[in-house]
This record gives sequence, structure tokens and C-alpha cells, in this order.
Amino acid sequence: LRTTQVSQKPMGRGYQHKGHAAMALRNDADYDDAMPNGDTPAILFVCLGNICRSPLAEAAFRRAVADAGLAVEIDSAGTGDWHVGKPPDRRATALAARHGIDIGGYRARQLAPEDFHRFSHIFALDHANLEDIRARQPADGRAQVGLLLDVVPGREGQAVADPYFGEEAGFETTWADVTQAAAALAARLGE
Ligand code: 4NP
Repeated sequence: LRTTQVSQKPMGRGYQHKGHAAMALRNDADYDDAMPNGDTPAILFVCLGNICRSPLAEAAFRRAVADAGLAVEIDSAGTGDWHVGKPPDRRATALAARHGIDIGGYRARQLAPEDFHRFSHIFALDHANLEDIRARQPADGRAQVGLLLDVVPGREGQAVADPYFGEEAGFETTWADVTQAAAALAARLGE
């Protein structure tokens, strides 16, 4: 289990705090040992490209858990591979910066088979993402897969708006969606 920071995320395979070893509460070997028990909350946000919606969900949730003093493993990924290795969309980075969060160091990665074992929860940003994730879900994975806005009372079954092909203002709608979900998730974890 590790503490989280708002503006920094694990790089590489997602669990190495390069240059932030002091942040780790235990080493990777401990983490791997703990995973099969399913005790560690580990949450993955998944959209299509991992450059707009899921990085914003990740950023919002990192802030929410930091504010709540919770320790949770957090990452994001895309179902597609077009943007692997790329930083978030500049509009998403600008949006996050307006809200005081630096996501410029995030790098897109694709959803991987081991994610179903590493994460306790995988949240899809929209229905297509949810279908794609479920199609790749192994029978022995521990991850519970669901739609992100299902965690928000009154918004069950709704998709987070995809701002990629729209106007810049769409990113604020996305941000409102993911911050709402982040708050609801953090509250649930804190119970
Ligand atoms: P995201 O947004 O899934 O929220 O990261 C998109 C990113 C890329 C594309 C579509 C949506 N694309 O078509 O490349």
C-alpha cells in the first residue's frame, strides 16, 4: 500500500515511484504478496485513449484520496493503443492545470491482462469502454469491473462525456463528472 500524491503518478509499469521512494510504505515484493488476498484497494480508470477522460479521472481521484488521507493504489489506462507512451491531450493537461493539478507527467498505456489481477476495481468511463474491458476480463481476475458514474447516486448508467472531438468547454463537463465520481468513490473507501 502506498500513499498517493496529487501531482505525481507512478511511471513505467505503474507501481514504481521513480525518484519518490520515500512515498512508498512498502516495497513491490510486499505489494505483490498482498494482491492475491484482495485487501488492498487498487483502482484503475479506463477510457479509450488514456489521454483525456481516464487521466482526468485519475487526477481527480488522486486529489480526493489525498484530501481524505486515504492510501489507495491508482492508475489509468486505455482500451486502445494509439496513444501509448504519449502525455495527456494538451486540453486535458490545461484543464487539470486550471484546477491546480499537474498531469503533464502522465503517460498513456493500454489496459493489460495483469490489470485484472493487480486492481481491485476497474472503472470504465463509458459503455463502450465497459464492454471492451469485460470482453478481456479473465475468469480468475480479482477486479470488479463497473461503469464509473454508477458510483454516483442518481447518475447510475451514465457515461462520462468524451471531450476528444468536441469543443474545449467539453473538458470542464468531463472534469465535473470525474470529480463527482472521485468524491463518491473516496467517500465509499473512507467508510
Ligand atoms: P479518451 O479520449 O478516451 O478520453 O482518452 C479519446 C482519445 C483519443 C481518441 C478518442 C477519444 N481517438 O479517437 O484517438
